Amino acid sequence: MRSFGDEDSIFVDLDRLNPNTQTYQPDSLPEREGELNQLHSTLKPAAMGSTPLNAFVFGPTGQGKTVGVKLKTNQLQSFANDNGLDLHVVHVRCKGMDKSYHVMTHLLKALREKRYGPGEELPSGYQKKTLLSMIIDELEAIGGTVIVILDEIDAIGTDDYILYELPRAEPDDVRLSIIGITNDLQFRESLDADVRSSLGEDEIEFAPYDANQLRDILARRAAGALRDTDIDDEDEPWQTLESDVLTDDAIPLTSALAAQDSGDAREAIKLLFRACRFADDEGESEVTEQHVRNAHEYLERAAVERGIKSLPLQRALALLTVTHATVTGTKLPETKDLYSLYEVFCEHIDAKDISERRFRDKLNDLADSGILAKTTKGRGQGLGKTNRYELEIKAETVLDNLADESRIKDLIQDLLRPKME
Ligand SMILES: Nc1ncnc2c1ncn2[C@@H]1O[C@H](COP(=O)(O)OP(=O)(O)O)[C@@H](O)[C@H]1O
Ligand SMILES: [Mg+2]
Repeated sequence: MRSFGDEDSIFVDLDRLNPNTQTYQPDSLPEREGELNQLHSTLKPAAMGSTPLNAFVFGPTGQGKTVGVKLKTNQLQSFANDNGLDLHVVHVRCKGMDKSYHVMTHLLKALREKRYGPGEELPSGYQKKTLLSMIIDELEAIGGTVIVILDEIDAIGTDDYILYELPRAEPDDVRLSIIGITNDLQFRESLDADVRSSLGEDEIEFAPYDANQLRDILARRAAGALRDTDIDDEDEPWQTLESDVLTDDAIPLTSALAAQDSGDAREAIKLLFRACRFADDEGESEVTEQHVRNAHEYLERAAVERGIKSLPLQRALALLTVTHATVTGTKLPETKDLYSLYEVFCEHIDAKDISERRFRDKLNDLADSGILAKTTKGRGQGLGKTNRYELEIKAETVLDNLADESRIKDLIQDLLRPKME
């Protein structure tokens, strides 16, 4: 067994390259100067004793929305502290809260913690209206200027009660500002016009990073995280990065892969971090293009496995029909053959079946998420087209990751495993 502490490592500060850690937050986001200036304008009234505006911040995941809003509100908070302004910032992470009700309970808890310190219980058992007036009472008790950040507020879907009521609440002697952040662009479109106009006094968009921006972001995160890796000129991080650890291709390849996938800075940092860990764990002193490629493959596989594990029943069954065709050696089966198999599967586990049309939708969903490959072929003159599906991944990967649901497990045991022996 290896011992800790006496290893040579390419890392000097792992936190800096770990996109999930709470311990490292970038202290500047040069790629977001425009967006941060817009936020500045939204918040500026607070520094002058007036009411900051409401804002709606939107853009895909990993674009620096959360960290950007934190950076600006922290800056405002320090200014307020230095200048004796009564300012409070409350950050509620709404991920996974599918009702306005849940958001309100967490908001109330966060507001109470502003007054009494951490450890407040999550309120329960109140009516929505009561909860709202408790929130207003709490805001009044805190007083001064309060900025409420509702991060990943798209979680509430169509239940927008809180977004409708809170901007209209007008608590006495409180200058209230609400900043809603969403990763889901459709959410903004789907909001009620009243909600959108009151919450979206300012609308600030974070567009996806391109490969050049990701290169600079990665260069800044790598400098300080890796041994002998430094930036000469902060205005040109990538251009002036000197590193004994990263080969010349490592960062450009990482940024290109991440830009092509989604332009998500978190994914880019995660990819470089994984590549560096691969190199470090092998005891190597350099991170090469190959480490980056291996890391990319590893993360993609992990994402597909998570995707399979969380498939709803009907989609899982659709996937199993294609898997069955693969293990029995049926080449490029047609939808109608897969559907017949699907009906057998439903019968076997006593599940209600869906129509062939909806079944085809499930197959297409699976193709969209890269689990299946779809090819469309003409049947010959005047006979229309047919779609054929095959697995993009190993049959074993499907079976191993689908086995959590007990009915699916039985199906695999009874109808698929025997075919594989
Ligand atoms: N311009 C940037 N420079 C350095 N790191 C960044 C930058 N933008 C985002 N990040 C990092 O990427 C990750 C995702 O950012 P985050 O603010 O959580 O994205 P979002 O809220 O848009 O999903 C975090 O680890 C953050 O520190
Ligand atoms: Mg976020």
